[in-house]
Amino acid sequence: MKGIVLAGGTGSRLFPLTKITNKHLLPIYDKPMIYYPIQILVDAGIRDILVVTGGRNAGDFLRLLANGKEFGLSHLDFTYQEGEGGIAEALGLAEHFADGGKVAVVLGDNIIEGSIRDAVEDFRKQESGAKILLKEVSDATRFGVAELEAGKIIGIEEKPKKPKSNLAVTGIYMYDGSVFEKIKVLKPSGRGELEITDVNNAYIGEGTMTFAHLEGWWTDAGTFNSLLRATNLVANSSARIHNPEED
Ligand code: G1P
Repeated sequence: MKGIVLAGGTGSRLFPLTKITNKHLLPIYDKPMIYYPIQILVDAGIRDILVVTGGRNAGDFLRLLANGKEFGLSHLDFTYQEGEGGIAEALGLAEHFADGGKVAVVLGDNIIEGSIRDAVEDFRKQESGAKILLKEVSDATRFGVAELEAGKIIGIEEKPKKPKSNLAVTGIYMYDGSVFEKIKVLKPSGRGELEITDVNNAYIGEGTMTFAHLEGWWTDAGTFNSLLRATNLVANSSARIHNPEED
């Protein structure tokens, strides 16, 4: 399975931090943000990775990541998203790279404690469709929120005012090759973007969406509060690894 990291957008919620650099190059504790989603894919055994970036500082990604040697990779692919067309539009730019196969997609500001290896293995065995990872949160109105019924996912609402559950759809998605046809028929949402939630609801409508619960902590890092939270979570995890007696 190939992997895709979506790191476009203007990061307007983090202005002025993003006035002179891309959100995904900002530090999360001791590494640039983009390192974490790449590592998620590498840890799941994925070696063929495309970074979709955008904005005025796209060249900095190439200088930072080169051919992925920090991750033990011998090659990385890059492509460029013009403007703020949304997550689904950014993913649409990966059609040529995916070449009809399955892909695992991670949003460039998503950081996790654990691993997605088991979910990726399960999706390799899944004949077709898609798979998402859900996580219980206390602030569901900020996310795509899943509605479950009898153990099945029956719908996702993007940033609902009255969430039907506390299960956020994390920014980790697995899709079969039909995802690009689904993206091509999307209409822009109220915020003028092609929404990944609409892609996921298309799979749910088809009856081919599966899900798993993500173990360990999860956070995004696209707002001042979540950026701080991400840094603290990573710092505390690192401290535990280096100084187990201080736990
Ligand atoms: C995006 C998705 C949302 C998802 C979230 C995870 O939100 O639209 O469904 O729950 O990522 O990080 P955004 O960060 O664009 O507000």
